[in-house]
Amino acid sequence: MCGIVGYIGNSQAAPILLDGLSKLEYRGYDSAGIAVYDGKEIKMVKAMGRLKVLEELTHGGATLSGTVGIGHTRWATHGQPSDINSHPHFNTSGTIAVVHNGIIENYLALKDKLLSKGYVFKSETDTEVVAHLIDYYYRGNPLEAITKVMHRVEGSYALGILFSEHPDQIFAVRKDSPLIVGKSEDGCFIASDVPAVLKYTRDVYFINNQEVVRLRADHMHFYSVDEEEIQKESVRIDWDADAAEKGGYEHFMLKEMYEQPKTIRDTFSPRVKDGEIVIEELGMTDEDIRSITKMHIVACGSAYHAGVVGKYVMEGMARIPVEVDLASEFRYRNPILDKGSMVVVISQSGETADTLAALRQAQKEGCKVLGIVNVVGSSIAREADNVMYTWAGPEIAVATTKAYSAQLIALYLLSMKFAQVRGKINQDQYSEMLRDLEKLPEQIELLLANKGRIQRFANRYVGAKDIFFIGRGIDYAISLEASLKLKEISYIHSEAYAAGELKHGTISLIEEGTLVAAVLTQEDLYKKTTSNMVEVKSRGAFLLAVTNEGHTDIEETADYVIYIPQTNPYFVTSLAVIPLQLFAYYVSVGKGCDVDKPRNLAKSVTVE
Ligand code: G6P
Repeated sequence: MCGIVGYIGNSQAAPILLDGLSKLEYRGYDSAGIAVYDGKEIKMVKAMGRLKVLEELTHGGATLSGTVGIGHTRWATHGQPSDINSHPHFNTSGTIAVVHNGIIENYLALKDKLLSKGYVFKSETDTEVVAHLIDYYYRGNPLEAITKVMHRVEGSYALGILFSEHPDQIFAVRKDSPLIVGKSEDGCFIASDVPAVLKYTRDVYFINNQEVVRLRADHMHFYSVDEEEIQKESVRIDWDADAAEKGGYEHFMLKEMYEQPKTIRDTFSPRVKDGEIVIEELGMTDEDIRSITKMHIVACGSAYHAGVVGKYVMEGMARIPVEVDLASEFRYRNPILDKGSMVVVISQSGETADTLAALRQAQKEGCKVLGIVNVVGSSIAREADNVMYTWAGPEIAVATTKAYSAQLIALYLLSMKFAQVRGKINQDQYSEMLRDLEKLPEQIELLLANKGRIQRFANRYVGAKDIFFIGRGIDYAISLEASLKLKEISYIHSEAYAAGELKHGTISLIEEGTLVAAVLTQEDLYKKTTSNMVEVKSRGAFLLAVTNEGHTDIEETADYVIYIPQTNPYFVTSLAVIPLQLFAYYVSVGKGCDVDKPRNLAKSVTVE
């Protein structure tokens, strides 16, 4: 995730671009850059680090004069955060500048083609491919070149493009990455999100997939990918600046929950090519995959909970024995690691001190470590032998939602790949799983749409003293995450229990009206967990059940039921966790807690 801006008008562009970028820093902040046409050529300044580095370098924009320009704030996906990899990127002659938010999935193939035509690349980014590809197709007509590029690139993009031969125009285009344009008395704007333009205008146009915009200082035109002009209606934005930063959502956590369908798509779709899972960054041959004798998954917090799900999925699908450890335990328990052991560390931030120490420990024992990491260029990403990025974009709320969901997808892909290579699933099963995976984003949208019902239910529990979550197998792993979500943001005591363990302790805590949430998504364990529900019900518990569509018989036992759409039983966590995240969120909102910044917690725990 990155932020792009553009301006063309009567005022100096650079200060407006910097101001716009400052409102988009939540979308990425490892580097920033701007390009402005100065009357003769396009001048560019870009630098690694937060936006303030760029502000200082340009004296608040004063060193770049000109009234048309584009800018970018980066959240690295392809290539480490560095000056060179920062945007804007140019064609070789410096006459075409591009800023980009998204991922060009076929950039390697396009790069090879351009290299063979003599193009020279300066950065490791997928974006530079776009700049050279526009150059390749450009014959004096920007719109024609841009639409040709749109036919060639696969993946997601919002692009801002400036041509020095056409300095009275900026172009913008999108597919699957957000883009808006706005117009004020003074000029026209492009931006990844509304907050960047709110200071100048409240009338914005939301650009749809495969649409192109040509902006001039005093008007703009919209085109289809076939270069036909289209008409669009503007939308009046009445959110305040604070709400706008959260995309109109009340909290970042809710916004990030709503980003989960896109996050999931971004994590799997670049890795599924022609019906095959291709994890280039794995750095393992099929022979390496076949020779794994054991896997260790190590992480903290929610990333650990994703790891617990990963254990069930990897063992079930690929039949590789998996141990999951909390990183703070793993590093001191003298684990038995040998040549056939594969170590996987999972971390959103890539900076968690215990996870980093566990990684180093495993390497010291001679193991190769795969990092499943969200932040490109973070310590774990740098030190792991191989890195599989989750590409969830920056997560602002302390309580993770979308990064956890992306970690699950990475683990499913890894399990499917290993299962296929080791001959544990056949082609039909594999293809069906891929189809189920592709359906998840849409199914999550359906579950999110049900938020009103969950909010009403959550409101009843703002005064709860204890809440319990129970389940077996993967349902236990889901319960762990549901319980953590609830307690960290609502400060209500909560425990997750393996349903079969209930009568060995927890059941003595059940009182009249205690909420027990039972997760029953695994068909083979359904009856067993139902029996455990009956046990707590007879001690006064109020029962919430989260189960698969079709299990209406559960209504005989449960007091309240949430149904989950049908999917592969290994992928069900991705669906069942959604209402439970919403439940935690609405209990926290109902109690008036600081949802995004719960007390005593940090987003990134860099101390032991
Ligand atoms: C903190 C956060 C959690 C997160 C955990 C691990 O406790 O509050 O949301 O799951 O750290 O962080 P990581 O960045 O390594 O995934």
